[in-house]
Amino acid sequence: MRFFLDTANLEELQTGARWGIVDGVTTNPSLIAKEGVPLEEQVRKICDIVDGDISAEVLATDTDGMLAEGRKLAKIHKNIVVKVPLIRDGIRACAALSREGIRVNVTLCFSASQAILAAKAGAYFVSPFVGRIDDTGWDGMSLIRDITQIYRTYGFTTQVLTASIRHSGHVIEAAKAGAHVATMPFKVLDSLFNHPLTDKGVEQFLKDYHKAFHDAPVVR
Ligand code: E4P
Repeated sequence: MRFFLDTANLEELQTGARWGIVDGVTTNPSLIAKEGVPLEEQVRKICDIVDGDISAEVLATDTDGMLAEGRKLAKIHKNIVVKVPLIRDGIRACAALSREGIRVNVTLCFSASQAILAAKAGAYFVSPFVGRIDDTGWDGMSLIRDITQIYRTYGFTTQVLTASIRHSGHVIEAAKAGAHVATMPFKVLDSLFNHPLTDKGVEQFLKDYHKAFHDAPVVR
């Protein structure tokens, strides 16, 4: 399973990249706006930090506009994946861009039927938003299970990119469901490290060693 950071914040990306476990980045217009730097400029900076798939979203909502923006974004860097919304014009744009060899992430997916459309349009990724579904009182993770089952049945090559992840439980469930990718905010990635028994164990090991050897250095 690949881990992506769902952020446009350069410090968070630098920290994640240093850990050596970040395989890519997803951005959206809201995340870019939060950083106060225009989309293309910020995406270029992100490409310099993380060597992996970087999703950059179009702002147009009509097919021609999406195609123009998508082609421009794809030229920024070989790692760019063009993100389009799962609307009629977006699916048309996805089909056209995919035929040109440009990789597309179809975003804002909230149903299995929408995920089938993305796969049929040749999407590289489909992004089902689990947290936003949970917010409506439904089970977001059951959508991931449905999509992975359908894609497996028909041999669709579109990868399931679990998005709108809110906590570590979502990451575990997405992995169990066979999602190809989990994209998460920095705070969720950071939380995956935590276990009180790990901290307790590290403390105890060091205490025992230093007690036995009277604080002698480990390596002379
Ligand atoms: C995915 O690519 C989106 O950027 C993201 O996961 C949306 O998550 P949110 O529901 O926390 O805004």
